[in-house]
Amino acid sequence: MAILCARLLEHVTLKARPDGNLVASFDQHNIQLGKLGARARERAQQLRSGVPLRSFTSDRSKAGREIDRLVRRLARSGLIEFCLSVSDRDAPKVVIEPQMPDYWPRAASLRDTDVLMLSRFAYMRRRSGTLVLESPRAGALFRIHDAKIAGMLAALSQPQQIKRLRHKVRFLGVDLLSLLLDSHILIKVDRRRSSNLRQAEGDTHLALWDFHDLLFHARSTEGRHANPIGGTYAHADDVPPLPAVRPSWPGKKIDLRKLATRHPPAAARVMQCLQQRRSTRLFDDREPITLVELAHFLDGTARVQSHSRAWAVEKIAAVEYAPRPYPSAGASYELELYLAVHRCEGLARGFYYYDAGAHSIVPIPARPDELEMLLRGAAYAMGVSAPPQVLITIAARFGRVAWKYSALAYGLILKDTGVLMQTFYLMSTEMGLGGCAIGLANIDLFEKMTGVEFHIEGPLGQFALGRAIGAEA
Ligand SMILES: Cc1cc2nc3c(=O)[nH]c(=O)nc-3n(C[C@H](O)[C@H](O)[C@H](O)COP(=O)(O)O)c2cc1C
Repeated sequence: MAILCARLLEHVTLKARPDGNLVASFDQHNIQLGKLGARARERAQQLRSGVPLRSFTSDRSKAGREIDRLVRRLARSGLIEFCLSVSDRDAPKVVIEPQMPDYWPRAASLRDTDVLMLSRFAYMRRRSGTLVLESPRAGALFRIHDAKIAGMLAALSQPQQIKRLRHKVRFLGVDLLSLLLDSHILIKVDRRRSSNLRQAEGDTHLALWDFHDLLFHARSTEGRHANPIGGTYAHADDVPPLPAVRPSWPGKKIDLRKLATRHPPAAARVMQCLQQRRSTRLFDDREPITLVELAHFLDGTARVQSHSRAWAVEKIAAVEYAPRPYPSAGASYELELYLAVHRCEGLARGFYYYDAGAHSIVPIPARPDELEMLLRGAAYAMGVSAPPQVLITIAARFGRVAWKYSALAYGLILKDTGVLMQTFYLMSTEMGLGGCAIGLANIDLFEKMTGVEFHIEGPLGQFALGRAIGAEA
């Protein structure tokens, strides 16, 4: 049987303070981990090289429980990895890097007759000098340090019965397979129930996702990976920044500046609105936005304007349409709005769904700490300390677009999001309100707050809205 250990990440150190408090230190950060008994403190030091999970998860002694609590706390802070080895003398053959704070390795149950196969979302690639096995569906990635395991994974591109696989993975037992199954990197296949492998994996929503789109979604948002995100200037040392304006093309210029500068009245109004538009990140909480203003804002930007039905795909399916004030690829109107209300006169603090068809808002019973985290994340993204008065999350029902456009779907959804952001900007400018687009969105937090799985509906961006400081109410 393989040994699964928890191990501190290389850049993390654990130190006991003279008062008995344990502190984890990394990159100039310190995390207080509380007081531990002498035995647990001693065992905690072994986390540097690795402590078998079995040694503390089934140890009900005081030290065992303390280590269990400590390792789970470190895991939630992203400071632990898990190593799978053949014996405690051997180097790990596989190292599991959690990508989500809730990840904890669990062995899915397997029988000899079970048939396994690689998920169509799983992939292997070189990262620095190691081979990594990943999937946008997985809560962890697996570093593969043994070519035989890579060979066994390659064999799993075809369905394989466990009893036939046993000899191939003898050195790790089926432990690795059950960990991979738990992470959705492997899937169980039941040929009797479905011959369509795409449909056999997950629900109909998942069947609509293409590999590259789900990967793009999970890696370009927050919540399902542990990579640095935001303005990290990752290549600033190696590559100079591109110029703000593209160097022009050679050739004879036609100078537009000489042409008429007076615009017809309607165009002048649009131009004025475009030129007045600015991002507002600081809001006047003494005079917050009102529910009446919010209703007006949503009415003008996002309310369903009509309903219709049309046949698609040579009369195979009737598709409903519900156009709204902004353009949308294929008239899909897949974008949904969720409001995190911090300060709004006439509306209690909370999390709401905007029902664009009924032009009404519905409270969603999200946990207060999650609402706080959402609002605080927006303030952080805008580089300010106070949360916005109303934070609009723009989420997409992916399947609405993917059903028609497949490989194009995610790109179109991002474009739709940009269109809606500009619509919000123009409306807030026109109404004398302040607003700011926010590019980041946490797809895991959204899943927790709504209970909707990340591949069914998820956020792509946010918009902070409120009364700007200095604006007249
Ligand atoms: C897609 C998108 C994402 C943005 N994300 C952020 C953000 O996360 N934080 C922020 O402070 N501003 C964000 N902005 C606002 C831009 O920083 C802002 O539009 C830009 O600096 C130009 O300033 P202006 O909007 O005042 O003209 C975003 C804008 C867009 C269009």
